[in-house]
Amino acid sequence: MSAVHDAAKTLFIALVGHDPEGLWSAPGRVNLIGEHTDYNDGFVLPFAIGHRTVAAVGPRSDGKVRVASTFADEPVEVALDELSTLFPTATGAAPAVPEWAAYPLGVAWALAAASGAGAGAGTRAQLSGVDIAIASDVPVGAGLSSSAAIEGATASALNDLWRTGLDKTALARIGRTAENEAVGAPTGIMDQMSSMLGEPDAAIFLDCRSLQTQLVPLGAAEAGLAILVMDTRVKHAHSTGGYGERRAACERGAAIMGVPSLRDVSVDDLQRAEELMDDVTFRRVRHVVTENQRVLDTVGVLRERGAGAIGDLLVASHASMRDDFEISVPELDTAVEAALAAGALGARMTGGGFGGAAIALISADAEKAVSDAVQAAFAASGFAAPHLFTVTPSAGAQRDA
Ligand code: GLA
Repeated sequence: MSAVHDAAKTLFIALVGHDPEGLWSAPGRVNLIGEHTDYNDGFVLPFAIGHRTVAAVGPRSDGKVRVASTFADEPVEVALDELSTLFPTATGAAPAVPEWAAYPLGVAWALAAASGAGAGAGTRAQLSGVDIAIASDVPVGAGLSSSAAIEGATASALNDLWRTGLDKTALARIGRTAENEAVGAPTGIMDQMSSMLGEPDAAIFLDCRSLQTQLVPLGAAEAGLAILVMDTRVKHAHSTGGYGERRAACERGAAIMGVPSLRDVSVDDLQRAEELMDDVTFRRVRHVVTENQRVLDTVGVLRERGAGAIGDLLVASHASMRDDFEISVPELDTAVEAALAAGALGARMTGGGFGGAAIALISADAEKAVSDAVQAAFAASGFAAPHLFTVTPSAGAQRDA
């Protein structure tokens, strides 16, 4: 048991007065490549990281759902049958509870609704009130999917306690429903799928249209390579602003091309796209279309030549996000440029953008040199010091105790 498990269990006992029924955890993620492609029915290649969120959970007899977090002063309590009044579907209104509580409560709401609709083959769901105590070491607001980690831990716990019998992909969908409709962030499904389905030493090649996955071994450690996360500490939120605007531009582009989603546009179609649409919409489309191709290329290169050969694809991905999709910020560009100048094989921002983290593919023995160079570049630019650490592909959501 880690310190995070201890923290969740201690919080549960302080709140409830006895041990939880169990501990469930789910990880954050890093996306190796494939950004803003998920909600375009495209391809992504993320992996789960070692940082995890733990939910200590136990049943209650009074039909209430109470959530507490080590990040919040006060627990939030709602009757199970009132959750649907909290989250009127897709109204766009801010949740009637603090945002952190909307993640676990949104999962409880979405899972209860799915079980009522008969989900979970061959099982009879047994909904009850629950106490949920949450602790996490996934950095918040860093683009590492701290929210998907909360959703994954909560969904796994309630799926077991309520006997809803859903598989990991269905639980990822529950997490996305919570995110989209309870929290109001119009995200895709990459983060929830990575948090549910992660495996040690592998990236998850996910087709976001079919939700089919293939594990792609990274073999980074054997190749003497490491992945350095460079958290700029520039905070972002996808429930507001730029993320939704980018998504709308993609939908506009797909409509102009007469296809259901940008997944159906290929690199060969880009010339026609440029003739049909305004410059901004075209550049948004070009990012998504070329990024889908880069994911496919990365999977091919990983399989044929190994992780040491994907650096140029990472660099091209960053340039596309900076110039065409326009979701980078100066801190992310500085991190990427400084890492590359210090010898990284490749680097790119990861996640939704507008802040958060970049990753660099480095030689494992260059961690100190690259980290020092990035720190120095931030200091020279007058930016706050970044948070730098390496990550390894890790297991997805599971019951730990
Ligand atoms: C956020 C969203 C994901 C995905 C990425 C961008 O992490 O939650 O669904 O869209 O941004 O690739």
